[in-house]
Amino acid sequence: MNEKETILAVIHNRRSVRNFTGEPVSKDDLMTILKAGMAAPSAVNYQPWEFVTVTNRETLNQLADGLPYAKMLYKAGAAIVVCAVPDKAFDKSTEYAIIDAALASQNILLATESLGLGAVWTAAFIDESRINYVRTVLNIPKNIIPLNVIPIGHPTGEDKPKDKFNDKNIHWEKY
Ligand SMILES: Cc1cc2nc3c(=O)[nH]c(=O)nc-3n(C[C@H](O)[C@H](O)[C@H](O)COP(=O)(O)O)c2cc1C
Repeated sequence: MNEKETILAVIHNRRSVRNFTGEPVSKDDLMTILKAGMAAPSAVNYQPWEFVTVTNRETLNQLADGLPYAKMLYKAGAAIVVCAVPDKAFDKSTEYAIIDAALASQNILLATESLGLGAVWTAAFIDESRINYVRTVLNIPKNIIPLNVIPIGHPTGEDKPKDKFNDKNIHWEKY
């Protein structure tokens, strides 16, 4: 495969991985993933994001305990919480901070796939109770918005990519 084919294969093979073996994720791999996150585009290049990386088993379990749709954290080797920081965003805009942090999140998901690991975006934002739970467990201050919790781990192989191509969603020239 040439470089272009490899990148497209990563994009198309990426899927939400919710079944992990329980093996740990190396710090080297986490750094590679975090660097990919920070390579994302952002409005006026303000980079209004911060990342809380969790590898401690008790903390991962504590997050799983309080997040109804993130139970895969019990078997994940790590998690990255992508935080949007409106104070650092263009125009101090919450919307730009969220958009930019979402782009960093997608880079994290793709980088994880490229390393042969698996991940899934689990929502904190826009649910106030989940945002507050993640803030409390991880000591995240009030002015910082935890956008998601991304469990990362070694996939068992159960989760498969979906074909979402839909010709009806494409408009040529005009709507
Ligand atoms: C904003 C957002 C919130 C999501 N929240 C959750 C979640 O809380 N738990 C979960 O298991 N998956 C969550 N997902 C993953 C989606 O369910 C998943 O991306 C979608 O079903 C498409 O499947 P795929 O990622 O395998 O292509 C979320 C995805 C997005 C973009």
